[in-house]
Amino acid sequence: MMLSTSMLDRSIQELESRSLARIASAKTREDLEAARVEALGRKGGLNQFSKEMGKLPPEERKRIGALLNAAKQNLEAAIEARERTFAEAALNVRLDAEWLDLTLPAPGPRRGHLHPITRIQRELEELFSSLGFAVLDGPEVETEYHNFDALNIPPDHPARDMQDTFWLESGNLLRTHTSPVQVRGMERFGPPLRMIAPGRVFRNESVDASHEHTFYQLEGMMIDRDVSVAHLIYFMKTLLAAIFKRDVTVRLRPGYFPFVEPGFELDIQCLICGGSGCPVCKQSGWVELLPCGLVHPNVLRMSNIDPEQWNGFAFGLGLTRLAMMRYGIDDIRQLQGGDLRFLEQF
Ligand code: DAH
Repeated sequence: MMLSTSMLDRSIQELESRSLARIASAKTREDLEAARVEALGRKGGLNQFSKEMGKLPPEERKRIGALLNAAKQNLEAAIEARERTFAEAALNVRLDAEWLDLTLPAPGPRRGHLHPITRIQRELEELFSSLGFAVLDGPEVETEYHNFDALNIPPDHPARDMQDTFWLESGNLLRTHTSPVQVRGMERFGPPLRMIAPGRVFRNESVDASHEHTFYQLEGMMIDRDVSVAHLIYFMKTLLAAIFKRDVTVRLRPGYFPFVEPGFELDIQCLICGGSGCPVCKQSGWVELLPCGLVHPNVLRMSNIDPEQWNGFAFGLGLTRLAMMRYGIDDIRQLQGGDLRFLEQF
């Protein structure tokens, strides 16, 4: 086919205006792409005229070439402009959908808080610090000597059976109480001594509403000259008043612990049920909270303190049980359960 140059001019112009109209009316990206292929595609569109151009005399070839270039640029610009309107429309849809009301107050940061046991522990640390007691720490993996022997519990002593022990292969054990820190305190500082030792303890027990294999105690010890049961009672009353911030009914019973003589059980009336009986107090209305006594002379002697010169009292507070009483928690398993719905209540 041989087109005259005027026909070629017209064909180019026609293709250009048809394509411009199609680009302008494209409703989707697919429409636009079809229009682009028609106008600028490798096989069709303006390219089909390039072949014809080759057959023209040089000046004409130049003129038509310029015409084609101009048409191509127009079309490319039109496509680009149309593409921009699509992009803007898409952006507007997105902006509408993802609209944010920046005048709304931002939600506050979520804050954690201390575990109820930690809270009580810190309160007691503060109280006892104000009374001149040092706060001591001891290892959770203990030696048999510190956990038992130095507390006047020799290997064949039946009291060892009272505390089911997790033994380690090394011959050490997971401490069954915080009392070994008494021994470490006496070894390290000697008399006179006022110390408390809060911490985690472990017993190989079957778990129920009031027993856990892992729980918290707070040990206390005071050694000085002429310490009496009256001193002990004074400190225990101060302690309980600080914790409960209300009147609690207490009773003192004789209690046996190898490391004290005399030994006592200080019970408080159950604050969960008010004394009428519940699973926490095992239906008795009373909860053992504060075993205590005057330090046994053997215990002093084993830590190189002369019982003729010095004596003292000691107590072992059940921190876990105390938290349960104070916050009205009736199942010990909840404390270590890690359930935030439970913990967030405190
Ligand atoms: N260590 C004892 C226990 O866990 C509690 C105890 C009793 C501690 C009497 C004392 C005490 O300091 O005097 O069962």
